[in-house]
Amino acid sequence: MQVATRVAEQPATATAQRELTGCAIVIFGATGDLTRRMIVPALYKLQQRGLLPHDFAIVGFSRSKWNTAVFRDEMAAAVRQDAGATAFDRESWQKFAKRLHYISGNYGEEADFHDLAALLADVSKEHNCGANYIFYLSTPPSVYSDVIRQLGVVGLHQTPAGAAPWRRVVIEKPFGRDLATAQALNAQIANVFDESQTYRIDHYLGKETVQNILVFRLANHIFEPLWNRRYVDHVQITASESLGVEHRAGYYEESGAMRDMFQNHLLQLYSLVAMDPPVVFDAEAVGAEKIKVLRATRPIPLSQLDQWAVRGQYGPGWVQGEYVEGYQEDENTDPGSDRETYAALKLHIDNWRWEGVPFYLRSGKSMAKKVTEIAIQFKRVPHLLFGLTPADVLNPNAIVIRVQPNEGFSLQFRVKSPGQTIRVHPVSMNFDYESLFNGEAPSAYETLLLDIMRGDRTLFAHSEWIEYAWGLITPIIEAWESSPASNFPNYEAGSWGPPEADALIARDGRSWRRP
Ligand code: BG6
Repeated sequence: MQVATRVAEQPATATAQRELTGCAIVIFGATGDLTRRMIVPALYKLQQRGLLPHDFAIVGFSRSKWNTAVFRDEMAAAVRQDAGATAFDRESWQKFAKRLHYISGNYGEEADFHDLAALLADVSKEHNCGANYIFYLSTPPSVYSDVIRQLGVVGLHQTPAGAAPWRRVVIEKPFGRDLATAQALNAQIANVFDESQTYRIDHYLGKETVQNILVFRLANHIFEPLWNRRYVDHVQITASESLGVEHRAGYYEESGAMRDMFQNHLLQLYSLVAMDPPVVFDAEAVGAEKIKVLRATRPIPLSQLDQWAVRGQYGPGWVQGEYVEGYQEDENTDPGSDRETYAALKLHIDNWRWEGVPFYLRSGKSMAKKVTEIAIQFKRVPHLLFGLTPADVLNPNAIVIRVQPNEGFSLQFRVKSPGQTIRVHPVSMNFDYESLFNGEAPSAYETLLLDIMRGDRTLFAHSEWIEYAWGLITPIIEAWESSPASNFPNYEAGSWGPPEADALIARDGRSWRRP
């Protein structure tokens, strides 16, 4: 048995330019949903776009007694089914299929990891992968610690000389279910892998517009001077979904909107919008600025929780013309369940840039529309001219970052409508990706997988960030779990959420946007 030691990778500078080297990716949980729906289709598309390294192999590892031939057949079906615009192409599939290998094993079994190491050595030789390995944990979280431990035990986490070839580990969400479990998982990883080898996935960070938040802010000089308490009234971050919990009610009963959407995706968007400019664009510098935002975020006062956080659960209703059953009608939810399918949260950042500017975050299932957007709402003009009344200027200037759908940016302002009298009219200037950059944008998983191969951790969550995020969210979840909601369901499917959420923002004299 080898003793696990950690080998730090060189910090990535100008990481986007890093060369792709040959490598192999081991997917733990290779027979699972995520592998079929996301990981393998994304790798296939990367090949079709000519972006995969020439020397590249995929090794599936799972408990199911499949073999390489079955794995290839199953993945062919998965790629065919993938709804992306890239068509299935027999010739390129055959080239891709040759890269696929499979080994069945138990996640806690040392002998099976020795077999994996032996297979990897063969695969690496066959495909010229240079012993560079990515270990992708696409398993249920309950086996993360087994896999990480066994990788350390058989020495797959490092290369003998600790030098040229590299080893990286990728962890899917959910990363823990509260602060204590996230800390424990970080500690388990840190026993085996260095932080520089660790890639915690948040697929929102791979979305084109999310990456663009920093380019928009920091590659232009006109926005950043406005991006602070002098000009910004408040910020709204919305991630609404028209779908309900679908076949995932069992998972949702354990999770809920706060764990599922806030601790990761929403707080990532929040960190990117609120952070200070980094000195360089690399994982360490960007990560450090994002961590500062969470450190400066005021803890939610639990004695007045209702004024800061609101929970909701959908009842029956109509979503875009279709009747939808309520959450509690799903056969996989507990009768009388008080699990939240919606949450809204008000946050304050106690620093020079944002003092006094509230950030309102909301996310829910079975809402009126699927839309993710960030709206920077500017203050109203200090003095009203043109016969404007305070009511006319309730929704003043805004910059809206549309994450999805219709990815783009819009700037909202007022102009004079034509005519002899001065009448003020709200308009918006829009930039949308599709009309300018024709063609399909890479999926978040394509972007993130390529970054892992390049060794660029900028779009991944740092251990400290994760712990600060859980530190903010855990007390709210605990307070909710210890005092069941008495009014669920409290919003109709197809609506914009519960009245309590409207009241939360209305108390501050503001209202939610209707995107
Ligand atoms: C996942 C959540 O992380 O993100 C899901 O577990 C949610 O509940 C999904 O539906 C939303 O992702 P997207 O990319 O569709 O906005």
